[in-house]
Amino acid sequence: MESFVNDSVTNILAISGSLRAHSSNTEVLRACILIAPADINIKVYDGLGTLPHFNPDLDVEGAILPAPVEALRSEVRWADALLISSPEYAHGVPGSLKNALDWLVSAPEMVFKPIGVLNTSSRSAHANASLVETLRTMSTELVSAASPLLSLTRSMASADSIAANPELAGRLQTALAALAEAGARYRERAVEMLPANLNPNPSGSSTVKSRSP
Ligand SMILES: Cc1cc2nc3c(=O)[nH]c(=O)nc-3n(C[C@H](O)[C@H](O)[C@H](O)COP(=O)(O)O)c2cc1C
Repeated sequence: MESFVNDSVTNILAISGSLRAHSSNTEVLRACILIAPADINIKVYDGLGTLPHFNPDLDVEGAILPAPVEALRSEVRWADALLISSPEYAHGVPGSLKNALDWLVSAPEMVFKPIGVLNTSSRSAHANASLVETLRTMSTELVSAASPLLSLTRSMASADSIAANPELAGRLQTALAALAEAGARYRERAVEMLPANLNPNPSGSSTVKSRSP
């Protein structure tokens, strides 16, 4: 893409842990797109169900990764920060989300990446704790101000209804602002820390080519 974007825009990759078509976790992330200010660009990752099962034999130096894994890593590289929202299954993180994270364990793009973890149910403390522990182990930066507990009701089942709820929308906007701040710090740090091909801002300048994945 040859369009130019201002570097003050923060790119956030949103990942839902649910593959359900009408997932409340996915809808919350879609609501974030509706309420985000113009300087926060959010993309909801849609490849979770396409990833092969993680196999360390395929994730070795010099290996050609399966295309869906390459696509995931490219989207993570593009992002200044991640926002994850996941259901709890049998007191754990859904296998499909854990599988995606396993593919990212050895990805240098994840190191110090700011992450907000939304929890849409006060009953789901086990999965949230497990997810946070996994992300901490992966040397990411957990942003607590971007990780609110949101108790959704049945009437808040769509992105539109979530975005129209002033209390929820306000809390999500506060979370996005905190995540964008951490994302801007990460972008500066990544220039020093990562080789150009793994950097969300390869030029290190204030105006860069579009970073769309
Ligand atoms: C197989 C299965 C297991 C579940 N286990 C739990 C659980 O252990 N704890 C919990 O709070 N909710 C559990 N739930 C409920 C889901 O977490 C809840 O319905 C969630 O809102 C679904 O998210 P989604 O709308 O994004 O798909 C389970 C649901 C399913 C389908």
